[in-house]
Amino acid sequence: MVTSTRPNLAAVDALLRDGYWDRTEIIRMVDGSQRVRKQSKGHQSAGPWGMDNLRAEAQYLQDLEPHLLDLFPRLIASWEQPAPGYDMSYKKECVDLGQLARAKAFNQQQANQFQTHLGKRVFGQLHTPSNATCKLSANVLDTLKKAAYTINASADLTCLLENKLSINSLDCFPLATNITRLTTQTHLLQAIDSQPQVRLHGDLFLENILLPKFSSLKQWPTQLVLIDPVSVAGISTGHPLFDLAKYESYGSGELPAMRRGHVQISGMGGGYAQDLGFTIDWHNKDMQAYTEINWHSCLRQSYVNHYGPVDEAIYALLEAYFAAAMVICTEGVERQARALKALVSLERAILLSV
Ligand SMILES: Nc1ncnc2c1ncn2[C@@H]1O[C@H](COP(=O)(O)OP(=O)(O)O)[C@@H](O)[C@H]1O
Ligand SMILES: [Mg+2]
Repeated sequence: MVTSTRPNLAAVDALLRDGYWDRTEIIRMVDGSQRVRKQSKGHQSAGPWGMDNLRAEAQYLQDLEPHLLDLFPRLIASWEQPAPGYDMSYKKECVDLGQLARAKAFNQQQANQFQTHLGKRVFGQLHTPSNATCKLSANVLDTLKKAAYTINASADLTCLLENKLSINSLDCFPLATNITRLTTQTHLLQAIDSQPQVRLHGDLFLENILLPKFSSLKQWPTQLVLIDPVSVAGISTGHPLFDLAKYESYGSGELPAMRRGHVQISGMGGGYAQDLGFTIDWHNKDMQAYTEINWHSCLRQSYVNHYGPVDEAIYALLEAYFAAAMVICTEGVERQARALKALVSLERAILLSV
C-alpha cells in the first residue's frame, strides 16, 4: 500500500542508522505496532542523490512480483512530503549478515547453504531481463573520471600521477591515461551495457542481508531477507556480474579490511612512485570472520551455474568502479588503498580485453 502522506507515528523506538543522506529508525504507531521508517534528511544534507534514491528504493519494493515479496520487507507506505521516505515491515528477530559473520555464528556448511540459497533467489528469481534505459557504462565512466579528479587534487595521492607505476608488481598507467585507453582501445564499456541486462539488487553485500539472530532450524541459513536495494549511484539494472562483484568485494573480507584500516600501503610516502602496493592484514583478529569461513565461493558457483563463466575483464572493470566510487568519498589510508585498487583493477581490465 502506498500513500502520498507520511503516516503519523507515536514514537521513535530506536535509531538503526544515521546515514549521510537518510535516517533509518524503528518507529511505533498509535496502535502499538512497529515499523522501520527510512527517510531523507531533506535538502540541506541530502543533495539530489539521497532523495532520488529513496524514491527508487520505494518504487523497487512496490514493483516486486508476488513470488519475490518474501525476499524483502513489505512496503507499507511511501510519501514525498516533507521529504521522500517509506515505511516497511520491521524484521524484529533479524540481524544483518555482517554482524552474524563477525559473531562467527555460522559454520562452513551453514555459510555454504546460505550462499547457495542466495544465488537461487538472486540469480534465479530477482535477476529478470530488463530493458531499462539506465546505462551502467555512463555511470562507470563518470565515476572513474571523478576519482581521477580526486587523485589529481589530493596531496597524498600525487605519486599516482607518475607515468610509470608498479602496483603489487603489475606495471600500471595512471588513472587518467587508462580512462582514455578504456574508451579508445577496448569495448568493455559497451560490453557491460549489452546482454544480459537484468534487474539487480544493486547493493548486494552482507550488511544488506538479514537473517534471524538465532535458530535451531536446519533451514536457518535460507531464511534471508534482502534490504536496501538500488546502489548509491541509483543503479538497479545492468550486467548480472554487478551483484556478484559487489557481494564478493565484501564477502572476501577485502572491503571490511579497507574500511577498518587493516591494510598495509607501501611506496606512497614521497612524491616519487617506487614500487607501490597494498596488502590486506589477514592475520588481524577482525579478519578471522572472513578467513575461517569462506563467504563467497558458493555464490560464485551459483553465478556460474546460471550465467556461465565469469567474464574476468568485466569483473575487473567493476572492481575498479567500486574502488573509484570510494576514492571519492573516503580519506587517509582507506582512500590510498581504494585508489591503488582502482588503478590496478582498471589496468587488469584493459590487459584482459585487448
Ligand atoms: N526492515 C528492517 N528490519 C530490521 N532491521 C532493518 C530493517 N531495515 C534496515 N534494518 C537495519 O538497519 C540498517 C540500515 O538499514 P539500510 O536500509 O541498510 O540503510 P542504509 O541505506 O543507510 O545502509 C541495516 O543494516 C539493518 O541492520
Ligand atoms: Mg545498507
